[in-house]
Amino acid sequence: MSNVKLNDKFMWGGAIAAYQAEGGWNVDDKGYSNWDHFSNSDNNPFNINNVSGNDATDFYHHYKEDIKLLAEGGHNSFRFSLSWTRIIPEGVGKRSAAGIAFYNDVINTCLKYGLEPNVTIHHYDIPQKFEDEFGGWKDKRLIDYYFDYAKVCLEEFGDRVKLWTTLNEPRFYSYCGYVMGNWPPHKHKDLQSYWETVYNQLIASAKVVKYFKENNYEGYIGIVHDHGTVEVSPETRDKEYVYNHAELFFNSLVLDMCAKGKIPTNLEKFLKESGYDTSFINYQDENLLKEGIVDFLGINSYQRFYVTDSTGETIVTHNNTGKKSNEKESIKLKDWFDITEPEHVSRNFWGREVYPEAIYKGIKDVSEKYPGFPIVITENGHAVYDTPDETGYVEDDDRIEVLQQFVDYVLKARDDGYDVQGYFVWSAFDVWSWVNGYVKRYGLIRVDENDNFKRIPKKSFYWFKDIIKTNQITL
Ligand code: BG6
Repeated sequence: MSNVKLNDKFMWGGAIAAYQAEGGWNVDDKGYSNWDHFSNSDNNPFNINNVSGNDATDFYHHYKEDIKLLAEGGHNSFRFSLSWTRIIPEGVGKRSAAGIAFYNDVINTCLKYGLEPNVTIHHYDIPQKFEDEFGGWKDKRLIDYYFDYAKVCLEEFGDRVKLWTTLNEPRFYSYCGYVMGNWPPHKHKDLQSYWETVYNQLIASAKVVKYFKENNYEGYIGIVHDHGTVEVSPETRDKEYVYNHAELFFNSLVLDMCAKGKIPTNLEKFLKESGYDTSFINYQDENLLKEGIVDFLGINSYQRFYVTDSTGETIVTHNNTGKKSNEKESIKLKDWFDITEPEHVSRNFWGREVYPEAIYKGIKDVSEKYPGFPIVITENGHAVYDTPDETGYVEDDDRIEVLQQFVDYVLKARDDGYDVQGYFVWSAFDVWSWVNGYVKRYGLIRVDENDNFKRIPKKSFYWFKDIIKTNQITL
């Protein structure tokens, strides 16, 4: 256990992200983001399901009702993100009074209902302008723009928000944007940009953490990583090689930089061996990284990575169409590793393995490699096709069955002495899924986009309420 107590009580809550929940994409003076661009470009070839997050689930107009409902569900905290272009419409410079007023009211409403706000400064949405002008996170200029934006967030909301995270899943963001290509800026198998953009985000994060500490903000600041334990299949020839490469790719680049304040020792070596340009790595950055070590680690836990020897060219697959496709979420990375198929795998309709033990293994792995950091499960969830009855009620027993196992493993991890201080289900209520829109749902509360975004608690909402009631834990 660490000496840090992020809250008085274990945090039970739900999570959402600005672009996926808010809607109101062009209200007041809100600026234009990369995801607004995704939704509003005519005939966007990358928008394969032809979805638009313009209205998302209209949190912008429903937040009071939503937060009240979460409190009724027994939640004592709420994770949400801030939209850069709602706060600073042009990305840099003038602040939007309307945007700031909105978030002030969200925060104040949380506090009124006894929900600790757990605020993420950046959850995938950047001003489109920076994507157009210089290629977004590819360019180190974004580090300073992001830093200026983060300072505004701390200045405006830091008197009441005590739990911050700088970035949501820098690795997965870069993976989908530059390797998979299903998210903006839609580059495919551009591994060079993958490494560079993860690196740049981690430098940006460290700048904010350092600033937070230097300015004695009250509370704690962390980062959110999409963690999955790397498991090497038994028939693998060179187990150590495969493990080290996969661990660097999936976890240690992010975690070493933010928790050890170090560039992973094998980063430059492995990249050089594979012919990458490593000039973006600057060991002088370690001075900043050391001063920008986080207070806690936010772990989004959905899966593990089961790997074996590389068998050939890089192949990346993803299932963006649900049960219409048999495609699995997978990568074979030339000369590094292949994701392979463990036996008896159960998968969701979008081809992702459903493996609840991953959450326990993840907590253990991170605690052992990065001792002393409290862990918060900042996301965990299960996507299904929800079928409401005529009243809009959803009996989501399938979701409950999976989430129950995940929660049991989190509680077991605590019992076994691991310092887990919170669990946030993805998602608090239905939100817009990045490329699957309203089809792929995770929420414990149904949002009916065809009926004025009406909110109807699902069976899982009551299940979670019960879990919370019977597991009140003082930290
Ligand atoms: C996480 C993200 O990776 O997974 C969320 O932080 C996201 O924003 C969630 O929605 C589920 O992903 P998807 O693509 O299935 O909606």
